[in-house]
Amino acid sequence: MNKDIVCSGIRPTGNLHLGNYFGALKNFVKMQDEYDCYFFIADYHSLTTHPTPGSIYGDASKIMAAYLAAGLDPEKATIYLQSDLPETIELYLFFNMNAYLGELERVTSFKDKVRQNPNNVNAGLLTYPTLMAADILIHKATRVPVGKDQEQHLEMTRTFAQRFNNMYGAEVFPLPQAIGSATGLVKIPALNGAGKMGKSEGNCIYLRDDDKTITKKVMRAVTDNGPETPNSQRPEVIENLFTFLRICSSQEAYDYFNEKWNDCSIRYGDLKKQIAQDMVKVVAPIRERIEEYSANKELLDRIAREGAEVARASAQATLKEVRRIIGFRM
Ligand code: TRP
Repeated sequence: MNKDIVCSGIRPTGNLHLGNYFGALKNFVKMQDEYDCYFFIADYHSLTTHPTPGSIYGDASKIMAAYLAAGLDPEKATIYLQSDLPETIELYLFFNMNAYLGELERVTSFKDKVRQNPNNVNAGLLTYPTLMAADILIHKATRVPVGKDQEQHLEMTRTFAQRFNNMYGAEVFPLPQAIGSATGLVKIPALNGAGKMGKSEGNCIYLRDDDKTITKKVMRAVTDNGPETPNSQRPEVIENLFTFLRICSSQEAYDYFNEKWNDCSIRYGDLKKQIAQDMVKVVAPIRERIEEYSANKELLDRIAREGAEVARASAQATLKEVRRIIGFRM
């Protein structure tokens, strides 16, 4: 077993989609065999943008079911809910004491949220990065599987870790690094031609979509008028379809359509049919397992409880050391 400690989480703000699967879950599953892993559901974080969620545990359970359906194994990785680890909040407090308004206000995701939602600029949103740092550093994790959009948060995690170490003259925290493309993190494009797959309607394949819905969404994906000169570069909308082919289909299928593109005889209808058919093969078994797990509340509950116990042992060890170093009574 590699000595690195891996930690990552997903916010429960809706149903997971194919981008979450290829961008995160699939990598988590690979890592559980190689590292000491902590995978959690960031339900505290969801309060920054969803202050009064209808059923926070219900939403978290959906992510738990998806984790397990994707192949995460509670025997190999520690899987838990962030809110079952209140130790995180004590570390969050310590980091907040030395996090500066200026640096928090400069975070891109914060500025985006302020722009999108000027009426809910709460302190939780501002201190999102210190909470994330606490999530990671409570286990002294060294590697964090996250996408490009989280790189700035991870940079700040290193800042808070280094600042703490300097301040108390002790090597308490490691400086965690992202595990990105080296292990095959792929950016999953949107179906509507631009950007990455997100939660806006029409551009997103949910892991719970049925076969017909998947097929319909793929067949509606944006295309263009087709190539005019042989071997031309593909515009983004078409390259996106080839990305789906690359992640869901066989090499033969990819080579076939690549050749058709190059000699200008490609038929987008055929390309989309191939993608739809292969995407259904990827999603259907995950969907079925999500349904099975979702129907077994007792099992989900037990896994979350057992995961929390393991996570708390790790968290308490870190906090004990941190409290001693800061100078609190032991
Ligand atoms: N910020 C992450 C996201 O939105 C979720 C998250 C919270 C996280 N805490 C984390 C990811 C700690 C990795 C490590 O996707």
